[in-house]
Amino acid sequence: MEKYIIPHNFSVTKKRRSALKNHVAFLIWFTGLSGSGKSTIANELEKALFEKEIHTYLLDGDNVRKGLNNNLSFSPEDRSENIRRIAEVANLMIDAGLVVIASFVSPYKEDRENVKRIVGYDNFVEVFVNTPIEECERRDVKGLYAKARAGEIKNFTGINAPYEAPTVPDVEIDTTMVSVEEAVALILSAINRRFKM
Ligand code: ADX
Repeated sequence: MEKYIIPHNFSVTKKRRSALKNHVAFLIWFTGLSGSGKSTIANELEKALFEKEIHTYLLDGDNVRKGLNNNLSFSPEDRSENIRRIAEVANLMIDAGLVVIASFVSPYKEDRENVKRIVGYDNFVEVFVNTPIEECERRDVKGLYAKARAGEIKNFTGINAPYEAPTVPDVEIDTTMVSVEEAVALILSAINRRFKM
């Protein structure tokens, strides 16, 4: 079917939108276990960028799964589809000129590789929130680890589903060693080095 689809070339381009906004557009991808601190750091990062007058949008697993992806489970196939759709949404947002922050467990290497392919390697910054599982389970902010241990949730990442850690993330954060403020500073300096913003 796709062979009968011929894309248009519109006059207002990504480059022109970026120029209007005065900054480049790219994706900052957070990966890590549930309860590792991804969304907390992503939230503070977005606040810091917003204060610098950078146009942002934050995509978060728990929120997107209530809307766009509310037909998807946590099976490996549905997680892949979850991440693929997010990557396509992020790609549109990058085209719109935004700095996109995405916070998803995204436990499979191949799915994260697919995100890079979709948005382009030059537009992708990977942040691995590497908080030890013992600490995530101790915090258990949402009570999900207890439910997983009790057998009420199947396919729970870290308990009865795998997490494939990134080997060379752009930034790695262990929230038992680094504060939220320090984590944001580390990410901002990585972004500054890459994009000179
Ligand atoms: S992903 O694996 O497909 O990337 P996503 O980030 O969208 O996951 O959603 C993860 C969130 O859903 C977690 O923060 C957690 O609150 C909740 N959740 C519910 N069930 C599971 C599960 N089986 N595994 C991991 N997280 C789960």
